[in-house]
Amino acid sequence: MNATMSLESVKHYPVMLDTVLSIISPQHGGMFIDCTFGGGGYSKEILKFSNTKVIGIDRDDLSEQYAKKIEKQFPDRFKFFQNKFSNVKEIIKLNDNPRVIIFDLGLSSFQIADSRRGFSFKSKGPLNMEMGRNSCSVYDVVNKLDGKDLTKIIKVLGEEKDGRKIANQIIKTRSKKPIQYTNELVSIIKNVKKDYKKFKRHPATKTFQALRIFVNKELTELINGLCEATSLLKEDGILVVVNFHSLEDRIVKGFFKFYSNSNQNPSRYIPKNNISKNSDLFKRTTKKPLKPDEKEISNNIRSRSAKLRFGVRNNNLISTCKEIKRKFENYLKIEEIRV
Ligand SMILES: C[S@@+](CC[C@H](N)C(=O)[O-])C[C@H]1O[C@@H](n2cnc3c(N)ncnc32)[C@H](O)[C@@H]1O
Repeated sequence: MNATMSLESVKHYPVMLDTVLSIISPQHGGMFIDCTFGGGGYSKEILKFSNTKVIGIDRDDLSEQYAKKIEKQFPDRFKFFQNKFSNVKEIIKLNDNPRVIIFDLGLSSFQIADSRRGFSFKSKGPLNMEMGRNSCSVYDVVNKLDGKDLTKIIKVLGEEKDGRKIANQIIKTRSKKPIQYTNELVSIIKNVKKDYKKFKRHPATKTFQALRIFVNKELTELINGLCEATSLLKEDGILVVVNFHSLEDRIVKGFFKFYSNSNQNPSRYIPKNNISKNSDLFKRTTKKPLKPDEKEISNNIRSRSAKLRFGVRNNNLISTCKEIKRKFENYLKIEEIRV
């Protein structure tokens, strides 16, 4: 999308909508929290049932314009907060516990389509990629960080085997002049991954993913968001998470696996006696992730990597989630790198 196009022209499909609705059964009413409101795809469907209330959260200003329309339509049943979902507990100062909390991770079609945001490697835009108000942008990361930190980010958060080479090439290029636009970064990556034509995926996919995750501290947000959301759910409350890449899925899978069975040790590095007895928080979880069907994938190609996992809460109290934070401390430490 360029500056003259309106967001209305962007098509947005809420991913795995039917599956989400069949799990959360909005017809039974109750309080729902849509932690990743985006364009309101899920919220709007839930609000069709008059016995529901929805709280929408999104860190992006862009979502506010969609939310305002819904707030006008349902002033008593819908409220929007522009905030990070890791703050969900602070936002929801309610006596009324939510029955369902949903996370649909990643980016909305609106964010990707707007070239001014710099999320897409397919169009020229500034190196930004901030979802909300952050402490740094991709411009800062690629122009200021040293080779060691840049390599770590690209290798670990992008699972990019050529991370070191790409980082070195970035440093070489920026020594002549700052790297400003997405297309410059794409050329740098293509220069390193010379055999890219052999592969189906765009050569910049992994590096862009790494940089986006880093500037938005997405994995720290995810771990804290899951812990906070789980603590808000009462017995039989449902936590639904749709994720789009392997790092997210590893965390979501690890979270449900560990907290649904107190005998599970999330990591061989954690001594057994450091695991609290009440660490199981879900009485039921998906063993295997649910995925979109062929029809949905052919209608909306972005849904192809979606994986949905959910859990049904028991009544154990949540503590600090220290076990899951320790298991993924490598990611958390990388996201703490200062720019
Ligand atoms: C895939 S979209 C959600 C689309 C939405 N389900 C719909 O149907 O319109 C993900 C949204 O989550 C938001 N988001 C990502 N991380 C967030 C965080 N940590 N806190 C709040 N919102 C976040 C993004 O800004 C984006 O709008």
